[in-house]
Amino acid sequence: MLNDLLARNLAWSTQRHAEEPEYFTRLAALQAPEFFWIGCSDSRVPANVIAGLDPGEVFVHRNVANIVHSSDMNLLSSLEFAVDVLQVREIIVCGHYGCGGVRAATDDLSHSLADHWLEPIRRLARAFAVDLGRESDIEAQRDRLAELNVVEGVRRVCETPILQRAWTRGADVRVHGLIYGLKDGRLRDLDCSIGPGHFQTGQSLQEAAR
Ligand code: CO
Repeated sequence: MLNDLLARNLAWSTQRHAEEPEYFTRLAALQAPEFFWIGCSDSRVPANVIAGLDPGEVFVHRNVANIVHSSDMNLLSSLEFAVDVLQVREIIVCGHYGCGGVRAATDDLSHSLADHWLEPIRRLARAFAVDLGRESDIEAQRDRLAELNVVEGVRRVCETPILQRAWTRGADVRVHGLIYGLKDGRLRDLDCSIGPGHFQTGQSLQEAAR
């Protein structure tokens, strides 16, 4: 199977080079993406593919259930590099319906280390229990929770000193929340975008989510 993968890589690089001989030379010299993507590790949600972007166009961080932990050094390091060095203009937190991480956070089974990782989703489920209870079934509840997790992620990104500093110095960078449908391949805007001057710390998550 590894040989297949290497063969596919060779075919891809050969074809890409044939289409645009300067392609790899140009990308090797400079990385200048407009987007920073925070998404789920799920193999069905690859940022470049679903957003129709080429290599070099999106800087990516992915983890299980696209959770923004305020103390995640991996995410924070990537975010800082994206904002301060690459100077991306758009930051996207992207969740997806049918997320296994959200499902694991809402069942009664033990998931070992993942239970620690997924704690923010459990906390959201408790905080929005009444809202979620209005959904028709458990799948709809989980999909709504996946949306709330994105909105919470957007807020957390905005609360980092990285974004606060960037906005103070006048950087034009915006943070958006999207959700992806595995069943139709469509990205939907959750209308919770935050840009320079639009971040109100008193705004409730529920307001931001609606
Ligand atoms: Co997922």
